[in-house]
Amino acid sequence: MAKIRKAELRDVPAIFEMINHYAAERVMLPRPLTDLYECVREFLVAEDEEGQVTGCGALKFYNVELAEIRSLCVAPGSQNHGCGRALAETLLAEAERYGLKTVFALTLAPDFFFKCGFRETARERFPMKVWRDCLRCERYFHCHEKTVYLNLPRPASLAKTQAEPAEVSA
Ligand SMILES: CC(C)(COP(=O)(O)OP(=O)(O)OC[C@H]1O[C@@H](n2cnc3c(N)ncnc32)[C@H](O)[C@@H]1OP(=O)(O)O)[C@@H](O)C(=O)NCCC(=O)NCCS
Repeated sequence: MAKIRKAELRDVPAIFEMINHYAAERVMLPRPLTDLYECVREFLVAEDEEGQVTGCGALKFYNVELAEIRSLCVAPGSQNHGCGRALAETLLAEAERYGLKTVFALTLAPDFFFKCGFRETARERFPMKVWRDCLRCERYFHCHEKTVYLNLPRPASLAKTQAEPAEVSA
C-alpha cells in the first residue's frame, strides 16, 4: 500500500529525479532543484511500504479561486496501481478545503485527467499561466500539452474526501 502525505525537504531529491526522468522523455517539463526546494510546501508525495517516494504532485495557487495541478507523476515501476489518481484526488480535496473554484492542468496525459473528472478547455482561459510560464517556455511554439480543468466543489458523489493521508494498493 502506498501512502499519500505532504512532501518534506528530504523528499526533494526523489521528486527532482522523477520529474526530470519524465522531462528527459519530453512528457513533462523539467524543474530545477532550487525551484523544488522553494515550492516543496506545494507538493504531496506517495510513499510505498519501504518508505520510497513513488509519486508526487503539486497544487499551485494563482488567486482566491484558481489553482493548477503541477508536476504530477508516478515512478515508472509504480504506475497503474491507482497512485496517480490518489495523488490527484488528494490535491483536489485540498483545493476544496481552500474553497477554490477551479483547478486546471496542462498535460500530455489528458485521458488520465478525464478519468479524474477533468474536461478539456483552451489554454487561453488561464492567461495568468500563459504569462507566468508558457511565454518563457522553449516549447511554446511547439506545445502539444492539452489544458484540462475541473470546477469545484465537486458533487459529493464524485469527491472522495481525503483529509487524512490516503492509502492506495501498490
Ligand atoms: C499519468 C500518471 C500520473 C498516471 O499515474 P498512475 O498511477 O499510473 O495512474 P492510475 O493507476 O491512478 O490510473 C487512474 C486511471 O487513469 C488511467 N490512466 C493512467 N495513466 C494514463 C494515461 N497516461 N493515459 C490515459 N489513461 C491513463 C488508468 O488506466 C486508470 O483508469 P481506470 O480508473 O479506468 O482503471 C503516470 O502515468 C505518469 O506519471 N505519467 C508520466 C508523467 C505524466 O504524464 N504526468 C501527467 C501530468 S503532467
